[in-house]
Amino acid sequence: MCGIVGYIGNEDARDILLKGLSNLEYRGYDSAGIALLNAEGIHVFKEKGRIAVLRESVDPDIHATLGIGHTRWATHGQPNKCNAHPHQSASGRFTLVHNGVIENYNQLKTEYLSDVTMKSETDTEVVVQLIELFAKEGLSTGAALRKTLKLLDGSYAIALIDAEDSDTLYVAKNKSPLLIGLGDGFNVVASDATAMIQKTKRYVELVDEEVVELTRDSYMIMDLDGNEKTRAPYTVSFDAHDTEKGAYAHYMLKEIDEQPAVMRRLLQEYSGKDGVVTLDSTITKAVNAADRIYIIACGTSYHAGLVGKHLLETVAGIPTEVHISSEFSYNMPLLSKKPLFIFISQSGETADSRAVLVKVKKLGYPTLTMTNVEGSTLYREADYRMLLFAGPEIAVASTKAYTAMIAVFAFIAVASAQKTGKTLDLDLVHEMSIAAQGMEQMIDEKALLKEVAREYLSITRNAFYIGRGLDYYVCMEASLKLKEVSYIQAEGFAGGELKHGTIALIEDGTPVFAFATQQKVNNNIRSNVEEVAARGAHTCIISMDGVTNHADDRIVLPKVHHALAPLVCAVPLQLIAYYAALQNECDVDKPRNLAKSVTVE
Ligand code: F6R
Repeated sequence: MCGIVGYIGNEDARDILLKGLSNLEYRGYDSAGIALLNAEGIHVFKEKGRIAVLRESVDPDIHATLGIGHTRWATHGQPNKCNAHPHQSASGRFTLVHNGVIENYNQLKTEYLSDVTMKSETDTEVVVQLIELFAKEGLSTGAALRKTLKLLDGSYAIALIDAEDSDTLYVAKNKSPLLIGLGDGFNVVASDATAMIQKTKRYVELVDEEVVELTRDSYMIMDLDGNEKTRAPYTVSFDAHDTEKGAYAHYMLKEIDEQPAVMRRLLQEYSGKDGVVTLDSTITKAVNAADRIYIIACGTSYHAGLVGKHLLETVAGIPTEVHISSEFSYNMPLLSKKPLFIFISQSGETADSRAVLVKVKKLGYPTLTMTNVEGSTLYREADYRMLLFAGPEIAVASTKAYTAMIAVFAFIAVASAQKTGKTLDLDLVHEMSIAAQGMEQMIDEKALLKEVAREYLSITRNAFYIGRGLDYYVCMEASLKLKEVSYIQAEGFAGGELKHGTIALIEDGTPVFAFATQQKVNNNIRSNVEEVAARGAHTCIISMDGVTNHADDRIVLPKVHHALAPLVCAVPLQLIAYYAALQNECDVDKPRNLAKSVTVE
């Protein structure tokens, strides 16, 4: 949800910023811009559309060693050139990029800036105009920035250039992600480490309400009163090549293919040589101390949470609820006496989830974050943390993080059951290896899945996924994936519920995919398939070897433990969505209107 970058050093900033923005493009791609400061002054380039469009518009003869950049996912104001960042103050002295939302911008405009003619419709412009106002009153740039920040309600990650000072890059953070990257003779700023991974692996986290003054070889972190703070850097565990597409046409396809390797990595991280699941004992203790677990997440992560609930209840015997973050935040249910909150978030930055984390922490409840991004806000702010070890997920549609989340829930559930001496019918280490092999087998079935997408989804505007139990949860993810990348309207439905109304939508040729991997409801889901077939639906059964199946089932998944079936189901649901998107000529990695890291509520 908007990405920002900044560079101060001795190299040419233009290409570093453009490369950084391309790496961040998954966070927003409505419009983009950069500002470069050199001896001739400040040069701003911005365009509506993708980074490629911006790249074309940047004057190749402008060289500068200080600059900032932005890729936008519009919140306030249309996505057009005028509203694109960077924004400049009235005199042009200050230039700024911003990720976040300034909630009181109208009020600030009325109170302080009635004399200033605004150039854009954005909330951001107010910030840069206020900085100029306070600088004109005699404050230093740092002090003017801090004074401005104290007036803001809302979220911000900001990078600011003062045209009168080519040796300092100013940054600030509150509720929106921002990191400083450290190099030899240069320093950088980025919304996340993937943006600048080609320049450095050493980063410093910022916490809310901090500002930093960066020079070419130093960084000074301060609070909003100007008091200095110290914080050591950390080294990220991935390399530039982890963020490249390599020979793949799309990140989504690469990330689907990486899933078996992610399962194997998780086995290494969360089990010992003896084949026993090994988790940090404080986490197992916290899980077992809870009388009820509340899983909080959004989108695909919410769908992984539903599978997690099943695992926690059936394997560990702990009552579990799953909630959509944005709903839970403002409509909290009655809580149990000893709850544990588990936040699931690929990015670790989702504002809806963070809002809940802040609220439940205030209430004094223990929190655990499961995330793919070490050092992210949700990672830092929870009491306990577990990493997904999926490697950078660049495609906007989540794939490998989804299966990693399910796998991590399996580790938590088994570790908890081991500790309390529950009888386990799941030898997780063994079964997870089998599931990884099963995923690999399905990855090798690309030709079949492409054909299924062609046969069922090439001319339709809508589709249904039906299933029961775990398969129902898989259907919810299958329909989300199909919708977001191919723009085909899809609905995931509990097989038995369809006849209570929605079956009215079934007509001749309506595609209905049914997952049938759970023996105990196998007959029931097959009856539901018959019901829709009798009304003209074009049905596709995705069953599993080992579960009673029929010769005419379109796809038969390799046999895995029933509790881990969603891991293997994930591959066909993702590949069908991927091929449907290609058929519809959609931008697979960057679907319209979306952003990867949703940092506004
Ligand atoms: C769908 C997708 C989104 C995210 C959701 C939560 O493919 O990626 O639905 O799952 O925005 O994001 P995180 O997991 O980063 O909190």
